[in-house]
Amino acid sequence: MWSVLVLLLTLASGVLSLDMLNMCMDGKHHKRKPGPEGELYKQCSPWRDNACCNANTSAEAHEDNSYLYNFNWNHCGIMTPKCKQHFIQDTCFYECSPHLGPWIQEVNQDWRKERILHVPLCQKDCHNWWNDCQEDFTCKQNWHSGWNWSTGYNRCPADTPCRKWTDVFPTAQVMCEKIWSDSYSYTTLSNTSGRCMQLWFTGPNPNEKVAEYYLNPAVSQRSATTTLLLLATVSLSMVLP
Ligand SMILES: *[C@@H]1O[C@H](CO)[C@@H](O)[C@H](O)[C@H]1NC(C)=O
Ligand SMILES: *[C@@H]1O[C@H](CO)[C@@H](O)[C@H](O)[C@H]1NC(C)=O
Ligand SMILES: *[C@@H]1O[C@H](CO)[C@@H](O)[C@H](O)[C@H]1NC(C)=O
Repeated sequence: MWSVLVLLLTLASGVLSLDMLNMCMDGKHHKRKPGPEGELYKQCSPWRDNACCNANTSAEAHEDNSYLYNFNWNHCGIMTPKCKQHFIQDTCFYECSPHLGPWIQEVNQDWRKERILHVPLCQKDCHNWWNDCQEDFTCKQNWHSGWNWSTGYNRCPADTPCRKWTDVFPTAQVMCEKIWSDSYSYTTLSNTSGRCMQLWFTGPNPNEKVAEYYLNPAVSQRSATTTLLLLATVSLSMVLP
């Protein structure tokens, strides 16, 4: 009896932590559960083995004023392609990533029920993004709020002129953290540290291991406990008649 109970409990806790490692947030376009998506478009294709976005969302992520959020990258003149590629990648990461569990928070917004907060970005992803936007212009530091939406897409409010990117975002850290109201946290970590999330990657998704690290102690300790309990159960069942 005991061993069956213990086994069930440990299995249940294992399933719970697996859920956190591989899940989709309750956002505007996210799938309910992650899974393979063979047809993901261009920059979103690294997620095709396991994604929270579908093919339509991945294609729209590459469009200006897309139906995803009607967001207008060109609010202070046409955004340069080298800058825009980072916003496309950021959109793919946001829509497709199944490993954001540790940073998902409930939020009371009319367009989504959950958001991400303080996702630790690898230094290089943040710096490359900021560097590639040096020739661009914007009027606002926080792109989540304060726009004039009267035409259906965001435009600069009347009293906020366009300024050089680096005047609005003096450092890469300011940009990465402020632009989406602290969805990201700046780090000085390298992509090989296993402790920061990568917007850009090829091959197997390196962010799963990172999520696992941050679910610590929830996952690592639990799996250690699970192993111990399993061992105990097995040895008990061998001793008992
Ligand atoms: C993708 O878009 C097409 C055409 O608009 C539509 O027919 C289809 O249902 C969409 N698929 C999903 C999964 O949303
Ligand atoms: C938004 O834009 C419309 C149309 O240009 C303008 O009439 C309105 O005053 C603007 N609102 C703000 C808050 O800037
Ligand atoms: C880290 O970045 C380097 C240089 O861009 C790349 O060659 C390497 O594959 C990356 N490592 C991981 C784990 O993604």
